[in-house]
Amino acid sequence: MTKEKLKELLNKMSLTDKIYQLIQIASNFYTEDGMKLTGPIEELGINEEILWNSGSVINAKGAKSVKEIQDKYLSKNKHKIPLLFMADVINGYKTIFPIPIAQGCSFDEKAVYDIAKASAKEATTSGCHVTFSPMVDLCRDSRWGRVMESAGGEDPYLGSIMAKATVEGYQGNNIKDKNSIASCVKHFAAYGAGVAGREYNSVDMSRRELFQNYLPPYKAAIDAKASMMMTSFNIIDGIPATANTWLMKDLLRNKWKFDGVLISDYSAIKEIFVHGNAKDEKEAAKKALNATCDIDMMTNLYTNNLYSLVKEGSIKESQVDDAVMRILTLKNDLGLFENPYKDASEIEEQLNHLSKENLELSKEASGKTFVLLKNNNILPLDKNKKIALIGPHVNNKNIVGNWSIFADKNSVKSLKEAFLENYNEEYLKIFEGCNMLASFEYDPIFTSIGQSPLIIDNEELVNELLIKEACEGAMDADVIVLAIGEHQRQTGEACSRTNLEIPYYQQKLLIALKALNKPIVTLLYNGRPLAIKDVLDSSDAVLEVWYPGTNGNSAVVDTLFGKINPSGKLNMSFPYNAGQCPIYYNHYQTGRPHIKDERYVSRYIDAPTNPLLPFGFGLSYSNFIYNSIKLDNNILTKNNKLNVTVSITNDSKYNGYEVVQLYIQDVYGSIVRPVKELKGFKKVFFNANETKEVSFILNTKMLEFYDNNCKKIIENGLFKVYIGTNSRDVLETEFEVIYLNNKN
Ligand code: NOJ
Repeated sequence: MTKEKLKELLNKMSLTDKIYQLIQIASNFYTEDGMKLTGPIEELGINEEILWNSGSVINAKGAKSVKEIQDKYLSKNKHKIPLLFMADVINGYKTIFPIPIAQGCSFDEKAVYDIAKASAKEATTSGCHVTFSPMVDLCRDSRWGRVMESAGGEDPYLGSIMAKATVEGYQGNNIKDKNSIASCVKHFAAYGAGVAGREYNSVDMSRRELFQNYLPPYKAAIDAKASMMMTSFNIIDGIPATANTWLMKDLLRNKWKFDGVLISDYSAIKEIFVHGNAKDEKEAAKKALNATCDIDMMTNLYTNNLYSLVKEGSIKESQVDDAVMRILTLKNDLGLFENPYKDASEIEEQLNHLSKENLELSKEASGKTFVLLKNNNILPLDKNKKIALIGPHVNNKNIVGNWSIFADKNSVKSLKEAFLENYNEEYLKIFEGCNMLASFEYDPIFTSIGQSPLIIDNEELVNELLIKEACEGAMDADVIVLAIGEHQRQTGEACSRTNLEIPYYQQKLLIALKALNKPIVTLLYNGRPLAIKDVLDSSDAVLEVWYPGTNGNSAVVDTLFGKINPSGKLNMSFPYNAGQCPIYYNHYQTGRPHIKDERYVSRYIDAPTNPLLPFGFGLSYSNFIYNSIKLDNNILTKNNKLNVTVSITNDSKYNGYEVVQLYIQDVYGSIVRPVKELKGFKKVFFNANETKEVSFILNTKMLEFYDNNCKKIIENGLFKVYIGTNSRDVLETEFEVIYLNNKN
C-alpha cells in the first residue's frame, strides 16, 4: 500500500477506531475462554468492539492459532486492518539457542546473527511478526536477574555490536521478506541500572553517563533499522521512561530520527500513575501519548482515556493519528495488508521447527559461548577414563533460559543423554548428587503457582543420602564431572538475588566430593555471574556453559572431550561476592586507586577490590602468549590513523580461536575517564604452535567521549593502548593525540 492509501485509510477511521489500534492484548483473549469476556479481560474493560478492532496481540502460540485469530478478526474488523502478532522470541522459538548473555561471550557477531536469523525463521512460520528482542540494557550488577538477557553485558561497545548483529539477523534486508521478523529493541532506557540490582527499581544517573555508557547499544540498534522500541519500567531523571518526553520525543524521535513504533512495556503506562508521576490513570495516559508511546501493552488506559482527552482538548487528535500511522506503516512494511498471515504455515512449522539445521546450529553456536574459567591440565578429558557424572543438572532439561516460552522441554537434550551418545556407557556412573535447591531458596511465589519443584519432606536427610550415594559411587571413577548451577527459575525477569553463591546443597555436594581427592571438572549452568571462588578452588577445571539451549549439551560433551576448543570470553565480571556489585572493568579512575596496599585507598577491608574474574576473561586448551605490542607512530591527529600490532603465539598442540581485545585509556581529560574501554576485538584462529601478528587501526573517532553538555568531544593528550587476552592481562604502549590546536 502506498503512503497515500494508508493516509486515506486513517482518514476513514473514527477517533475510537484509531484509539483501538493502540492497545495490545493477550492472544488468549481471542481463544475460547477469552471470548467469554470474563476474568482478566473483563477487568481490563475489553468488550467485543475493542477485541475486534485492537491493533496487536502478544504471545500467540502457533500458525494455526494465529490464522484462526486473524481470520476471525478480519471478518469482524471494520476497516479490514490486519492484527500484528508480537512475541518474546528471545533466544529461539522451538529450537533454543544459548541465552543472550552466553551469546555475547562468543564475541562472534556472525554466530549471534545466525541465531537471530534461525529464530526468525521458526517464529515467522508460527505467525509471529515482531519479536521483543534484542534486550540491549547495559548490565553491571549480577544481582539483577535479567543480566541473562543482555549479550553486551557490561560493555557498551560489545553491546552495540551484538545489538546490530541481532537486529540484522532478525530483520534481514527487508521485514517484508519471507522469514524476516521485525525487531523491537528494549528496554529504553537504562533498565539495567536499577538501584542495588533490584528488579523494577529506580534508576538515577547523570545524563553524561547515560550517553557515554548506556545509550550506545540502543542507538546501534536504531542505526541497524530496528522497527520498534520498547520503553523501560524505570525512571530517568525522576520521570518514568514511558512518560519521559525528553527521552522519547527529544532524543529518540527528534535527535535519533526514530520513526518506528514505540510500545510500552507490560502495564508501564499504568505504572506512570503507580510511580506517582500522574494524579490519575487519565493523566498517565496523556503523559505516555505526549511522550509518543504508540502502543499500550496490556492496560486499558489508552482505550479508557484518550477519547475524552482529545474531546476536552488535553491532547490533539493529530497525536493519536501519528501513533496510528506508525502502527499502520509497520503493518504495511510487513506486507500484512496483502498477506495478513505473512509466513504462518503449519506445513512450514513442521519443516522448520527443530530442523536438523537448527539443531546443528544450536550445538555449534553453544560451543562458541562456553567460557573456560579454570583448567589444571585435566581438560580435554581422555575417553578411556572412568567418569562419575554427578549433579542436579545432569538430568535437567530446564536449560533454555526463562524466556523460552514456546519451547518444548522434551526436545532438549540433557547432559546425560548427550554423554550417552558419545561415551561408553560402561565407563560412566551417573548420580543426581543433591536437589537443585534447598527449600529456603525457592521463591515462594513460583512455588505457590506450581512453577518450582515441590519441596520435599526431610530434605536435609534426603540430600545427605544423595550426597553419600554420589560420593560412594564416585570412589572408583578416574574423574568427576560435576554439573551444578542455578535453577533456571532463579534467573530472568523478577529474579533479583542478594546471594550470588551456588545453591546450598550443591555447595555441600562439592565439598563432599572434594574430600575424595579425585580430579573434579565442574560445569556451571547459570544465567548470571556468580560468586564462585569456592567452586574454582575446589575444582580442577571449570567450564561456564550458561543455559546452552536445546542441543547445547552436545557441545558441552564435545568440549569436554576436546572436539571443541573453548573460546568464549566473559562479557560481565565475576565478583568475589554480591557485596562487590555493581562491578565492571570500565570504571572511572578514582583519586585514590587501589594500586598499593595502603589503608586510605579505594578498596574493601574484607574483600579484594578487583573482581574474581575480569571482563574478557576466558581460557582455551591452547596457550596463547602475547609476545609484544608495537605502534607504527606515536602521534595521532585528525589526519592520520595509527596501526597497533601485537604478536601472539599459540604455544600448544591445540588449534584454537583467541579473542584478541583492544582497550584504550584516555590518561587525563576535562572529564575523568575510565581506566580502560574496549574499542575493538578480533576472534582469530591459530594453528597449533603458530605465531601471528594481529593489527588494529586507531583513529580519533574511537577516542571521542561525552562532555557535561552531552556533546561528543576529543581532547589532546596522552592515551594508553592495551591489547590482551582479557581486560586485566594486557600488553601496553602509548601515544599522543594532537587533535586541536592549543587556541581551540
Ligand atoms: C515484560 C518484560 O519486561 C518485557 O521484556 C517483555 O517483552 C514483556 N513483558 C512482554 O512479555
